Amino acid sequence: MAPPAAIRWLAVVSSLWLFQLITPSTAIYCDEDDCYDLLGVTQSANSSEIKKAYYKLSLKHHPDKNPDPESKKLFVKIANAFEILKDEASREQYDYAIAHPEEVFYNTARCYQAYYGHKTDPRAVLVGLLLILSAFQYLNQWTRYNQAVDMVKKTPAYKKIDYGLWNLSVLEGLQIKRRATGR
Ligand SMILES: *[C@@H]1O[C@H](CO)[C@@H](O)[C@H](O)[C@H]1NC(C)=O
Ligand SMILES: *[C@@H]1O[C@H](CO)[C@@H](O)[C@H](O)[C@H]1NC(C)=O
Repeated sequence: MAPPAAIRWLAVVSSLWLFQLITPSTAIYCDEDDCYDLLGVTQSANSSEIKKAYYKLSLKHHPDKNPDPESKKLFVKIANAFEILKDEASREQYDYAIAHPEEVFYNTARCYQAYYGHKTDPRAVLVGLLLILSAFQYLNQWTRYNQAVDMVKKTPAYKKIDYGLWNLSVLEGLQIKRRATGR
């Protein structure tokens, strides 16, 4: 007996979502890249150094100057990295995410707030996470229940009872037949 399709579907979707949330928390900033590496600066670079590095790189990779599609992609990435590092608050958040990769949920919540402002209530995000966790727990319990049922079915004692019942019904069937034929 498998869980209803809807629950399995929910589990798949939510695990994908959860995976998205849990995988490197810094990925929400510059994808798989390091924002500082993209600009070719160190984490201790000051704001004017970051600005300088960005202008230099954005000129070099500007689509007008460099028709290579890879260069265009890089240009977008550099612009995104600069967007994060030029703002003191978001740079601080990024530095914090690098220093505390274990605080995944906290970082994600902060990032949601940074991106969506107050449109997304952090409490709503929390409730969503709780719902997903309870769905997992439900699925887990369901699986354990099925395993228990399977185990009971496989035990010899259960088989004996099963056989007995089966024989009883066969006997009853025979009796009914006998009565019907009058023998
Ligand atoms: C940033 O660092 C550079 C080189 O280390 C220095 O020349 C510049 O004055 C600094 N700028 C600021 C705003 O601190
Ligand atoms: C029930 O039937 C099976 C064969 O179908 C037989 O092996 C078994 O001994 C029977 N059990 C009883 C309690 O009559």
